[in-house]
Amino acid sequence: MDYPTGLVDLVAERSKGFQLEGFIAGQGPIHPKLMLVGEAPGRKEVENHIPFSGAAGKELIQAMESIGLTRENTYITSAVRSRPYKVLERLNKRTQKNERVYPNRTPNKKEILAHAPLLDYELSQVQPTIVATLGNIGLQRLLGPKWQISESHGTVYHGPVLELSKAQDRYQPSEKEYTVVPLFHPAAIFYNRSLSEKITKDWITLGKLLEKEAK
Ligand code: URA
Repeated sequence: MDYPTGLVDLVAERSKGFQLEGFIAGQGPIHPKLMLVGEAPGRKEVENHIPFSGAAGKELIQAMESIGLTRENTYITSAVRSRPYKVLERLNKRTQKNERVYPNRTPNKKEILAHAPLLDYELSQVQPTIVATLGNIGLQRLLGPKWQISESHGTVYHGPVLELSKAQDRYQPSEKEYTVVPLFHPAAIFYNRSLSEKITKDWITLGKLLEKEAK
């Protein structure tokens, strides 16, 4: 996605003071059947500028392929477009020296709000038939904090989504209505293998919905 320069500058300004690194644009075609909304890029994505190109990305691409989707026909983005990191001091066991490391972390509410103009712009430009959110962060960015992935995964929502208010300091419901399918984040499987069956089922549900929409 080529964002207008003013928009990128605005988000850079809104992100001042946060521990965020790099900028990775959303990728994919305009007017696709599906837009995927994840959490935030990680270290791998900052290196190669491809959304979901790390370990979670491998899981995601496999799931997409299982219902006939590819990077070429799907728009992929996330709630935050820079890598959130934390700063940790730890002992390197090999060298026995203290070192500072900068691991990935989940974006916080303020960072998600700071980056909101980007996702709003992407939605307005990409105009996907269906939006699938990946994990709680993407889900709550679009539908609000009451939504929980553990309860809503694999269901189909149709209605307004949250967008930045005119004053750009909070969210408001959009006038336009969207079809949103909450999915687990592909990395969820790394922490909880028992989710595997549910994840497979949800992707089958999404595949059927996409088929129906295509008719
Ligand atoms: N998780 C996300 O939400 N996005 C990425 O690009 C990578 C991991």
